[in-house]
Amino acid sequence: MPDESLHLDVNEQIECAHTLASRFYIDPTILEIERSKIFRRTWQLVGTLQQACGEVNGIKRTIADAETFFTTELAGEPIVVVRDKHGMLRAFSNVCRHRAGPIAQGSGCKNVLRCGYHGWTYALDGRLIGTPDVEGVEFFDRSTMGMVPLRVETWEQFIFVNFDAQAEPLTAFLGNIPQQARGFQFEGLQSAERRNYVIECNWKVYVDNYLEGYHIPIAHPGLMREINYAEYRTETFRYYSQQFAPIRAMKSGDGERLYAPGPGLQEALYFWIFPNLMVNIYPDNVSTNLILPISQEKTLTVFEWFFHDAASSQSKERIRKAVEFSDEVQQEDIGLCESVQRGLRSATYDRGRYSVRRENGVHHFHMLLREFLERAAGV
Ligand code: FES
Ligand SMILES: [Fe+2]
Repeated sequence: MPDESLHLDVNEQIECAHTLASRFYIDPTILEIERSKIFRRTWQLVGTLQQACGEVNGIKRTIADAETFFTTELAGEPIVVVRDKHGMLRAFSNVCRHRAGPIAQGSGCKNVLRCGYHGWTYALDGRLIGTPDVEGVEFFDRSTMGMVPLRVETWEQFIFVNFDAQAEPLTAFLGNIPQQARGFQFEGLQSAERRNYVIECNWKVYVDNYLEGYHIPIAHPGLMREINYAEYRTETFRYYSQQFAPIRAMKSGDGERLYAPGPGLQEALYFWIFPNLMVNIYPDNVSTNLILPISQEKTLTVFEWFFHDAASSQSKERIRKAVEFSDEVQQEDIGLCESVQRGLRSATYDRGRYSVRRENGVHHFHMLLREFLERAAGV
């Protein structure tokens, strides 16, 4: 049965299209549908290979080492990522097959996971291997009761999980990004800083805002000084888009510039990967922004910066500057996104129009929303 409530009604031609109706940003039933039809059907960033997993004999372990694990959440689902004894990275639902207890908690180095409720144990390849006191249970076949496996793939040090067994591989979502980013040396990157911001807006308000540079002249005076706005543009691909923000030509006497080109990669690369991940690659660092809905009108954005030799004093100064500048822009965006959320609730507003030149990235995002929501609903 077609579900009319999920009909997005956004024209494929941006010239003719009206923006997404306000109910998609304020109706609490939409988020649950998005969790199952979008967040559990796409590749979600769940951590990096540097993820700490405790220590053995005083030596710190990460998920790159054998017999380690960490737990996290994906679209409201508890999951566990493990590295088994053969070095294979795996992901599972972190819900026990007995009575839904927590199989793993936190992170650590172990060769079996023991459920925190009644102690059923699972090997790191998922097999159920220990079930105390189940003698006498009829038709009980341990071999069918292992941890529920999920798809896991990596790009450089980033670990992605997908709940959808039918989804295209991660490489299809990333398209040309790995080739474009090849000039950047990912090896040896360390997490230098992580900041969480809770914003009173729907997650799509934040993503829409990220996907256009249209508001830069009005909303971001500091950023406007750094870039050549006339040449700012967005290109869209199957599951991602890229923003081009050329650095404004340096004049003598400009002093030190935040975005001065480095020796390797000559320009900053800004990618958004459907639905909720931004990867910003600068000549000397990478940052990720992960956009996680908390409720229909509350969103967590997780910003993380990765540098080489993050602990050196020289890097510390560069990290401080990058984080400070990003924070200034983020505070400006938070104010706007929260106002927009209030505006979307207004009785006077339902939908608007797109700038063909400046908002093609937003329109592309809305087309992907349409594809995922309507396809899954059978519209
Ligand atoms: S719920 Fe896991 S052992 Fe009972
Ligand atoms: Fe902005």
